[in-house]
Amino acid sequence: SIKAFLFDLDGVIVDTAIYHYQAWKRLANELGFDISEEFNEGLKGVSRMESLDLILAHGGLTLSEEKKTELATQKNQWYLELVSRMTSDDILPGVATFFSQVRKAGLQTALGSVSKNAPMILERIGMTNAFDAIIDGTKISKGKPDPEVFTKGAAELGVSPVECVVFEDAVAGVEAGKRGGMFVVGLGSPDVLTQADLVSPSLDILTVDEVLAKASV
Ligand code: G6P
Ligand code: MG
Repeated sequence: SIKAFLFDLDGVIVDTAIYHYQAWKRLANELGFDISEEFNEGLKGVSRMESLDLILAHGGLTLSEEKKTELATQKNQWYLELVSRMTSDDILPGVATFFSQVRKAGLQTALGSVSKNAPMILERIGMTNAFDAIIDGTKISKGKPDPEVFTKGAAELGVSPVECVVFEDAVAGVEAGKRGGMFVVGLGSPDVLTQADLVSPSLDILTVDEVLAKASV
């Protein structure tokens, strides 16, 4: 039976996915090219340096490690400026209600994000205590689509992968959950999140009972 829900952060709990996109777009523009929203789908859930590599390849650029570190730092500074104004008002619709249902159902929760900024974001929005385990970009060696971020979360909670449901907005994140042997709820479009076991536009229109019923068959 299902014992734990594992949540991605950016684009699931809070709408920081848009800020990552804006900061990467600004970087690409300064380098003389652009990235589309469609291209950005492939960046969601992907680590900072791997995202930069994808963007540079897209622009046909090969740069030194030193220059890449400088660009990644610049992007992160712009990202931090964008998120610095965030408050609990920025928690996505339906998250608070969903988490109270999660608690009532007696389920455990873990955060599974490859972002190194994840703990700071959770503090800003006042949700650090909503998670029994927090796995972020500083605790893993392989980013999504590798399942490490979710299998570590399950291990920290003391549950097995088949007892977990993953909530993800990213193609790479859905793949990570599936490779980890978990039931995956995709939040977004079914045309994009084709590997997910269940897709909903938002947590706002999902109930814990509905997820448990679908994940338990
Ligand atoms: C999440 C986001 C990605 C981001 C990654 C690393 O997975 O979806 O867009 O690149 O975290 O975030 P960081 O805050 O460490 O740069
Ligand atoms: Mg995400």
